[in-house]
Amino acid sequence: MRKICFIIIMAFMMQSTQAQRKVVIIPEPVQMNLKNGSFSLSNATHIIASKGTEHEAAMLNIYLKELYGFTLPVKKAGKGHGILLALLKKSDKPESYHLDVTKNQVSIKAVTTQGIFEGIQTFLQLIPPKKIEGTTFHISMPQLSIYDYPAFKYRGMHLDVCRHFFDVAFVKKYIDYIAMQKFNTFHWHLTDDQGWRIEIKKYPKLTEVGGWRNGTIIGHYPGTGNDGIHYGGFYTQEQIKEVVKYAADRHITIIPEIEMPGHASAAIAAYPELSSFPNMNTQIAKGTKWAGDSTGKQVQQAWGVFPDIFVPSDNTFTFLENVLDEVMALFPSKFIHIGGDEAPKDYWKKCASCQVLIKENGLKNEEGLQSYFIHRIEKYLNSKGRNIIGWDEILEGGLAPNATVMSWRGEEGGIAAANQHHYVIMTPGQYVYLDHSQTKHEDSVTIGGYTPLITVYNYKPVPKELDTALAKYILGAQGNVWTEYMAYPSKVEYMVLPRMSALSEVLWTPENKKNWNRFKEELPELYERYQLWGANYFKNSLNEAANQASK
Ligand code: ACM
Repeated sequence: MRKICFIIIMAFMMQSTQAQRKVVIIPEPVQMNLKNGSFSLSNATHIIASKGTEHEAAMLNIYLKELYGFTLPVKKAGKGHGILLALLKKSDKPESYHLDVTKNQVSIKAVTTQGIFEGIQTFLQLIPPKKIEGTTFHISMPQLSIYDYPAFKYRGMHLDVCRHFFDVAFVKKYIDYIAMQKFNTFHWHLTDDQGWRIEIKKYPKLTEVGGWRNGTIIGHYPGTGNDGIHYGGFYTQEQIKEVVKYAADRHITIIPEIEMPGHASAAIAAYPELSSFPNMNTQIAKGTKWAGDSTGKQVQQAWGVFPDIFVPSDNTFTFLENVLDEVMALFPSKFIHIGGDEAPKDYWKKCASCQVLIKENGLKNEEGLQSYFIHRIEKYLNSKGRNIIGWDEILEGGLAPNATVMSWRGEEGGIAAANQHHYVIMTPGQYVYLDHSQTKHEDSVTIGGYTPLITVYNYKPVPKELDTALAKYILGAQGNVWTEYMAYPSKVEYMVLPRMSALSEVLWTPENKKNWNRFKEELPELYERYQLWGANYFKNSLNEAANQASK
């Protein structure tokens, strides 16, 4: 009898310790009411997938397996103990969801499957961040009630795969980091001076030649030398399809970026006739070391901005339209990013055909010619039912009629675009460039700058200069990850985590629920989640945060 009493007391104590575990959901939900009591998730718990939620049930099992090492049986309908997924017929915000945990059931209800998916991401965080050992288990989670929806429609993360190439396995992992933190867009930067990374069947040399460089500078620009290592890689169209499907399964839209008219060295190395001066050697950045042949057109081996940009000729436009046709066949996204940033006009100033084009079209100057270039590409993409996004330089010389602007050189470009009633995605360098250092004591090479966790956390995507009528043009924001100084997946993870988690609250959590002190206290649990994901992360954020707070 004494033994039975002891077991009951122990069981009660275990139950209450587990129930006392603090609930950490990042991004913090809009409304969350904790209740007394708990729900016990066990190996006997079913997922009850109502009509239309079968895919989300399968996704829940994929995440349970990946994170915790188990799956649950799925049944179509029925009452009783289980995790119910159900679509609601009323109208509500498209990504909203209700998550209720009662003694007998977890229910995730939403008006869209995307809402169900977001609810699943919250549910996964109710499970303590530990792999489950064995096949029989009981996991206690607190009873609660959540109603949640995002603050912003566009919640993006970007990855540059040109400066360094990341294989499909890592890109999928990155998409999971995006999905698990309730972002909804992956901006895939696929072409640049240092490598062309997407197979284009009509132009095989883009990847055969443009996908590879003969070396890379060593250390911080201009570098202490050149490693002389043949470096590169690209995604086949089959791989791209696989990644697009992987993302779509997780309700993530991929926006591909095909850079123009600048950052075109790799394309020009493959097809020199795309240059204003096809017979001129590629310019090597001052003070940098070069490996191998330096004659003719070459894929760049150093970072920076280069003058050899696409010549605005009929041949170039036909090339770009053909490339974009293949890109559109692969990516269903409404938006196609066409770059537009950092296109020096030196060559266009000297190029006779460029000057003729300026005169014939009554353009003011080379900025006008860039605007003509972007207008022409926009017209083509619009005719195929797509819209362009460009970096804020596309404002120069006049914005194309339906363009969305990605404001990166501060917020000014975004403010100007919103004032012209154009949609805007905020990516200002000082707040959301996750290639910047996150500590003043950085012991690995980064591009520079200083954007600690608190700076990202406190970012507000709607600039105070915009009134409510104009604020609606701000679709959201995005973290940018340029990879000059990120040669491996673990370095990307180190740079984005936990700053990406801070950004998830900027984009999802309403202003009145954001709280730096609460977020800071939740970091240790967040770190445990990163460990569960098998992700590297910046482990000193708490110290850095303490230093920041004491200032
Ligand atoms: C950019 O960072 N060049 C858009």
